Amino acid sequence: MDKKILITAALPYANGPIHIGHLLEYTQADIWARVQKLLGKTCYFVCANDAHGTPIMLSARKQKISEQDLIDKIKKEHIRDFNDFLIRFDNFHSTHSDENKYYAEDIYHKLQKKGLIKNKNILQAYDEKEQMFLPDRFIKGTCPKCKAQEQYGDSCEKCGTTYDPCDLVDARSVLSNTKPILKESKHLFFDLSQKQDMLKKWTQEGRLQNEIKNKIKEWFDGGLKDWDISRDAPYWGFKIPNTDNKYFYVWLDAPIGYMASFKNLCDKKNLDFEEFWQKNSKTELYHFIGKDIAYFHTLFWPAMLDGADYRTPTKVFCHGFLTINGEKMSKSRGTFIKAQDFIKHISPEYLRYYFAAKLQDSVEDIDLNLDDFRFRINSDLIGKLINIASRTAGFLKKFDLTLSGVLDNEKLLQICQNKKDDILQNYQNRRYATAIRKIIKLADLTNQYISEVEPWNLIKDDKSVARVHNICTTCLNIFNILVIYLSPVMPALADKNEQFLNLKPQNFNDTDGVLLNHKINKFRPMLQRVEQEQINKLIG
Ligand code: MSP
Ligand code: ZN
Repeated sequence: MDKKILITAALPYANGPIHIGHLLEYTQADIWARVQKLLGKTCYFVCANDAHGTPIMLSARKQKISEQDLIDKIKKEHIRDFNDFLIRFDNFHSTHSDENKYYAEDIYHKLQKKGLIKNKNILQAYDEKEQMFLPDRFIKGTCPKCKAQEQYGDSCEKCGTTYDPCDLVDARSVLSNTKPILKESKHLFFDLSQKQDMLKKWTQEGRLQNEIKNKIKEWFDGGLKDWDISRDAPYWGFKIPNTDNKYFYVWLDAPIGYMASFKNLCDKKNLDFEEFWQKNSKTELYHFIGKDIAYFHTLFWPAMLDGADYRTPTKVFCHGFLTINGEKMSKSRGTFIKAQDFIKHISPEYLRYYFAAKLQDSVEDIDLNLDDFRFRINSDLIGKLINIASRTAGFLKKFDLTLSGVLDNEKLLQICQNKKDDILQNYQNRRYATAIRKIIKLADLTNQYISEVEPWNLIKDDKSVARVHNICTTCLNIFNILVIYLSPVMPALADKNEQFLNLKPQNFNDTDGVLLNHKINKFRPMLQRVEQEQINKLIG
């Protein structure tokens, strides 16, 4: 029997807009969740806002609103953006929620009972001008390992090393630009080294991509350090029980937000939370994340879960970063493209298609080259896929908009049907680019066939009119199959196609059947070309 599945995507911070870099991840995860659902599996896809931490506190202060108001406002915007890009979560919650407070405290208490939490006095960077301890991200300096400049206080974006902010060379406060002093404070730590054996085993059980396993080997070789899970006031987060003025570090309660969002869904839908999260759960748990947050998800998170006697993730799927025209997204180059900017000029489904056409199962970065983007959309989708319908649908007017009872090319239809398992296997293995290539190859074959049989000539001769009917019936059946194959990537196109072909919502099984003697609707163009003008506006 198929196992029940819980899928998560990383929780976006509630202090900024969704941009197309984020969308790479949410699209990747959404496609995968849709594939599971189209296969008829019981599957839930949850997310939430990551609503705690100093940046959110400072951002609220700057806007002169409460943190609560800020995160409520951003949550609405994020939900709108995800809807616009057809990211279909079963639940979108917040880490600033009752459920999350409950599980954060629950996990903390369980870890404490097992002797996994220790107290230590530490010297911490303190901004005397702003009168606050500085979070890692508010200190910048040179990476102690690879010497890359302008790195944050927690980890190096260049070499991936994590470290203590005071290890940075030439540290300075981002808030006041002054040199932070070191001030003593008592902190709570998760003793990760006690979990070393568990983690060594867990990370070698086929849950992770090879690139990540190699990274983990480096991390193990560097030694697992205690993880500071507390922060001093002023801080925006959950107070740590039995302390005065200590808060859980945002990254302690952030992944617990996956549980919280699911718990919230369980309460709404009457699902069994324990079935999914208890130790030895028979269900599957998959996390989609970017490579920048692999440390948290492949070491801290499984160690916390195991330490608190919950199940651990089945697999963690890591993706690379989105670059635009070969470079990091940048405000000055006009390539820091927000979801809302994109949608003003270009159909969101095109971005989904392009991402899918480039995504494989590796952690390599993905480049959105805007010339290539326009070319791919116009050539694959308009020139090949939609072309199958637009070259043949018009003739159906002559046949009362009804498909014939006979196919002209059953062999070609079968070739398309027989590709199903191969295409699904590629989706399942997150090799979306391969799946897309195979679908477009089938569109090529079909267009070749249309060019060979030339229905526009056959229609001129009474003797071959009936054959045109059969040709169009073959082609529209193939078009339907290819649109179903693409439907995890382009669900809105699938809807339009169902309207056109007068069908109920379809799933992958529907590619096995053939539509004969079936009434359809008048063909209307389903997709438009992308013009250079639109691209110019997008980055103008
Ligand atoms: N709040 C944390 C995640 C907590 S999960 C328990 C966070 N938030 S984020 O908003 O910065 O990023 C959310 C996700 O988007 C992360 O997986 C991150 O890797 C991904 N991306 C953010 N920018 C990206 C690109 N430019 N390209 C690809 N993915 C990107 O991290
Ligand atoms: Zn470095």
